[in-house]
Amino acid sequence: MSVRFAVLVSGSGTNLQALLDAAGQAPFEISLVVSNREDAYGLERARRAGIRAVHIPHKCKSRGAFDAELVEVLKSHGVDWVLLAGFMRILTPVFLDAFPNRVVNIHPSLLPSFPGINAQKQAFDAGVRVAGATVHFVDAGMDTGPIIAQGAVAVHDSDDEESLRTRILSVEHRVFPMVMKWIAEGRV
Ligand code: GAR
Repeated sequence: MSVRFAVLVSGSGTNLQALLDAAGQAPFEISLVVSNREDAYGLERARRAGIRAVHIPHKCKSRGAFDAELVEVLKSHGVDWVLLAGFMRILTPVFLDAFPNRVVNIHPSLLPSFPGINAQKQAFDAGVRVAGATVHFVDAGMDTGPIIAQGAVAVHDSDDEESLRTRILSVEHRVFPMVMKWIAEGRV
């Protein structure tokens, strides 16, 4: 049976685009894209790919109430696995317990280094010579769940924060679709 993914986004959705491009030729399905932000360009990318795009606002709701709404929408679409592609909300146990060991995030650092926000800036400011991205299971902590795969990039002397961010993003676009395929093949 083919695996049904939902992708959650909050922004531009370049990682979502990489997932959509990879899903085009594969025996699995991205059933749904959800955003907490109505203006997230990721929703537009989904519509252009002919995939259902849903906006669920988070304002004036408790985290638990937002997560319960999210669960209801995903379950009503028969979603098996959830991929967080630049989704900038912390998920509570209300959500994680509904998809146990089935929620995966991409983070723009070589975890466990530089969790949290502005990971690329944290890496740049720390002067590391190798940076990268991590795909990991989501647990109740902040970017602490078990690591599935990582991609590394060199940091060049000529880099600034923006060029490093761009290089990390390009490795994200390779690693995340690779993990999505592994999941679909039952290898994760
Ligand atoms: C990506 O760099 C992703 O790793 C990061 O947000 C960006 C989203 O870009 N996620 C996090 O920082 C989560 N902690 P995109 O919307 O172009 O895919």
